[in-house]
Amino acid sequence: MSFRVAIVGATGLVGRTMLDVLAERQFPIAELRLFASERSAGTIIEWKNLQLRVEPLTMDVARSGFDIALFSAGSAVSREYAPLFANYGTTVVDNSSAWRTDPNVPLVVPEVNAHRALEHHGIIANPNCSTIQLAVALAPIERLFNIVRVVVATYQSVSGAGARGLAQLDAELAGTEPTVRISSHPIAHNTVFHPIADDGWSEEERKMMRELRRIMDRPDMAVIATCVRLPIYRSHAEAVWVECQHQIELPALIELYRTAAGIEYVPENYPTPLTASGTNAVWIGRLRPDPSNPHALALWVVADNVRKGAATNAVQILEVLVQNGRLSPAHSFAELRS
Ligand SMILES: NC(=O)c1ccc[n+]([C@@H]2O[C@H](COP(=O)([O-])OP(=O)(O)OC[C@H]3O[C@@H](n4cnc5c(N)ncnc54)[C@H](OP(=O)(O)O)[C@@H]3O)[C@@H](O)[C@H]2O)c1
Repeated sequence: MSFRVAIVGATGLVGRTMLDVLAERQFPIAELRLFASERSAGTIIEWKNLQLRVEPLTMDVARSGFDIALFSAGSAVSREYAPLFANYGTTVVDNSSAWRTDPNVPLVVPEVNAHRALEHHGIIANPNCSTIQLAVALAPIERLFNIVRVVVATYQSVSGAGARGLAQLDAELAGTEPTVRISSHPIAHNTVFHPIADDGWSEEERKMMRELRRIMDRPDMAVIATCVRLPIYRSHAEAVWVECQHQIELPALIELYRTAAGIEYVPENYPTPLTASGTNAVWIGRLRPDPSNPHALALWVVADNVRKGAATNAVQILEVLVQNGRLSPAHSFAELRS
């Protein structure tokens, strides 16, 4: 069986990486069409020796009878177009934050809650990139010791903000004035926060806190995030402290980390953004018991934000649906909303 696939946002960082991941994992594709805004319509993208022309996204495209649409064109595009595609029977996996809190849209990290993908009604949401790698790292801890509280500080690369993030850092490193920005502060040689709201939290921090609870099905879990952007091109790192209900037995956790799907455990030395970049794994190192609390531990988690944090996770969701024969939803998105 092979599928008719649309990629919306195909010229972006995530869209282009989706093309790589689909090819690498040999996802069965009968027809592939690429969409972006009018700006890049006509651009030719090479994929598996094919020359594919990027088309402008229009309402009519939704009626084309795609089996699958992978969206990575920002929240506004997803909010407008994803339900249209879903209503015409296309299964949408969306990388934006548009649908992540909708109770009719599963929020899925396959290593953690693959079963939720099977409950979809036409749209499945990919979580925020920082949250995906944290959820993968925490799932074995939750399974063994039952998590009470998580405190995380991120060290995020500029590619997490897409092409604009790369452009600001490139310009600043070249000593020129950036034409686009993701922060009013310089990023080169600096650390910056995501925009901070009046209540003292950034939206990135709030996303991590609420999405983690939803993915892990633990609405009661205490989560505190501090999200920081660094002048790194690719991959996010996270310093994590976890407090659990049960006493920590590190050997049992190390055993799980050594065998868990999607995890690369680094017992000596430590993973860095350069270790993780270009890989699909979540890299874990610096596992340490908290000397002040036998129920707590600290760890360091790194992953490629564009791969595991977006494109790879989306393709893994498709693989779960195909393996379980659930590309078509049980009830359509339109039925739920009528
Ligand atoms: N970068 C990450 O690490 C990451 C991780 C997780 C989730 N995400 C999410 O994924 C989405 C894309 O991120 P990105 O990093 O790939 O951004 P990007 O590099 O800036 O790419 C954005 C893409 O969206 C397209 N687009 C913009 N407006 C459009 C419109 N009106 N109609 C159709 N296409 C339009 C752009 O096409 P043009 O070439 O025509 O402008 C481009 O293909 C965002 O929602 C982001 O939050 C990103």
